Amino acid sequence: MTMVLSSTSIIFISIILISLFFTSSAQTCSNHTFTSKRVFTSCQDLPYLNAHLHWTYFKSSKQAKIAFRVQHTPNGWTAWAINLNRRAMVGSQALLAFRDSKGRMSAYTTLITGYNPSMQPRKLQFRVSKLSADSGLILFFHILASNFNISPARTCSNHKFTAKRVYSSCQDLPHLSAHLHWTYNSSTGQAQIAYRARQGPSGWVAWAINPNQIGMVGSEALVAFHNSNGSMAVYPTMITSYSPSMLPGDLSFQVSGLTAEYSNNEITIYSVVGPFAGGSLVNQVWQAGSLVLDDIPQMHSVSQQNLQSTGELDFLSG
Ligand SMILES: *[C@@H]1O[C@H](CO)[C@@H](O)[C@H](O)[C@H]1NC(C)=O
Ligand SMILES: *[C@@H]1O[C@H](CO)[C@@H](O)[C@H](O)[C@H]1NC(C)=O
Ligand SMILES: *[C@@H]1O[C@H](CO)[C@@H](O)[C@H](O)[C@H]1NC(C)=O
Repeated sequence: MTMVLSSTSIIFISIILISLFFTSSAQTCSNHTFTSKRVFTSCQDLPYLNAHLHWTYFKSSKQAKIAFRVQHTPNGWTAWAINLNRRAMVGSQALLAFRDSKGRMSAYTTLITGYNPSMQPRKLQFRVSKLSADSGLILFFHILASNFNISPARTCSNHKFTAKRVYSSCQDLPHLSAHLHWTYNSSTGQAQIAYRARQGPSGWVAWAINPNQIGMVGSEALVAFHNSNGSMAVYPTMITSYSPSMLPGDLSFQVSGLTAEYSNNEITIYSVVGPFAGGSLVNQVWQAGSLVLDDIPQMHSVSQQNLQSTGELDFLSG
């Protein structure tokens, strides 16, 4: 297990609506046979809730193929989660399975943002593919997932800003060594933000909100870089296509107090943004590129990091 998910802690949570029907058959995970010829190299009988985790880890791609099995009641739900930051339920990223009202098994991913999480489908910070659940004769579930792409150092909560700036929440973003700090005012719907990302002196960084969809096109960005005269430039710009102009423009939401600074190989963008049409829940996109020509940021690279740097952000959580 340590090899699979070192530096992460695993928790799993389950509400059992009193399991009346089946007593455990004391089956150990190693002699479990899966339907459809699924085979895993390793397994662990978990200490509670008659649960078992089976996995095969692919070292080169850092992917794990997993099956989580748990004894279950017909109307309950079950979840298996990974918490990238600490040993706790809050902040964990879960795979959830249950039987829906039509009697079919349903599975999706969700973020456990508090002790009373919404349990709505959400994208996780690591890639999950081929997620499915089934229940056999005695209502075992399998959840199959893959690709735990564990991201680098998580440091946002220790960061000290210049000029005594303080934010109530922060998030270490999973790609591009980036961090978002914010204080959200729910009565005005505005967020004071500081977006920090590692960058060399000749590169650019951008943080954006996409009001309509997930992804780069349609996003509304704050971009910062060193001007040719050496000062920091920072302005809003609309990302209207895969080849945007990167020239200053107005956004659909209010932006004020926009400034940027460069220190310790990081560019930080400060601003007050919002309110947003959709409230506190937004799609964020962030990006970085190494080249600025004639004071215009140039195309970023298309590495996996650059293409996956998007996700949901709830200004009310965290
Ligand atoms: C699995 O192994 C355990 C312990 O060796 C044994 O008690 C159990 O009967 C086995 N189950 C099956 C289905 O073979
Ligand atoms: C939110 O903004 C309103 C209006 O400006 C202000 O009165 C209130 O104190 C702010 N709340 C917080 C928590 O800063
Ligand atoms: C650098 O250039 C920008 C844009 O042309 C200008 O607004 C700014 O005042 C200049 N800064 C200095 C220190 O010359």
